[in-house]
Amino acid sequence: MIPAPIDPAALPASVRLETGDGGLPVVRVAGPAGSAELYLHGAHLTSWTPTGGRPVIWLSAASLFTEAKAIRGGVPICFPWFGANPADPAAPAHGFARLAEWELVDAREEHDGVAVTLRLADSPATRASAWPHRFEALYTVTVGAGLSLALTITNRDTDAVSYEEALHTYLAVDDIRDTEVTGLESAPFINQLAAMSIETETGPVRFAAETDRIYLDHNAATAVVDGSGRTVSISTDESNSRIVWNPWIAKAASMGDFGDDEWTRMVCVESANVRENRVRLNPGQSHTLTVVFDVTAQG
Ligand code: BG6
Repeated sequence: MIPAPIDPAALPASVRLETGDGGLPVVRVAGPAGSAELYLHGAHLTSWTPTGGRPVIWLSAASLFTEAKAIRGGVPICFPWFGANPADPAAPAHGFARLAEWELVDAREEHDGVAVTLRLADSPATRASAWPHRFEALYTVTVGAGLSLALTITNRDTDAVSYEEALHTYLAVDDIRDTEVTGLESAPFINQLAAMSIETETGPVRFAAETDRIYLDHNAATAVVDGSGRTVSISTDESNSRIVWNPWIAKAASMGDFGDDEWTRMVCVESANVRENRVRLNPGQSHTLTVVFDVTAQG
């Protein structure tokens, strides 16, 4: 059964549907163990703060909040393609999901947090896009002492389909120059800044320049340890690709919705299924990518 939009009057006490930046609708969650904001535009999570802790998700102060653009920072959803679309260079980078208006279809208080579900389905606009298939996407964000993000795609078409996806998480760090990402040691990666060459590194990922890497066939847990000693652990289910990105100085300066000095305060560690790891679904089949964040040391 296709879930219907929820009546705002039926929301639990910890969830409110309000008007956020740029007049865009935002779901504000204030649960006992954590708080968060989730825009319907792009189903874009823009904050998560465990109670008593510091914000974990980074959002650019220069972000635009308009239906025409993806929000900068937070957790953009890349779907149904990642990066540029090879078949249609004019198609929006990272797919149409982060530009679409999603519906709020469920919100409930559960034992491990407050769970909010948004829904997107194909429309005349998506059917006219570079990925013209019938689909349903359900995205459940569970806000507690940890944060769980689960993106389920169902193939509602009569043919098999394939797609790429990424939960493009921007994490706040004290200083990128003192930050490391563990869990990717010795894993081969595609260096998007060196003609897609395949490289490996034995130690944790450290940052001294623009970094843009795709790790395929990798589903082990990772962690981000920033200069303050805070550790954010990231574990996933049904996600076989990782992307690690920081724009550094020149690229940050070239982006109109990214403050010139903000590159020091963020890192993207994305949980994905891209390239050879793209998902294939037969008619009626579903796939769920899940990522869970926990602050395992406060710093
Ligand atoms: C990352 C890509 O996932 O997203 C980078 O690996 C890209 O190449 C970055 O620059 C930001 O993309 P966008 O479209 O949000 O500016």
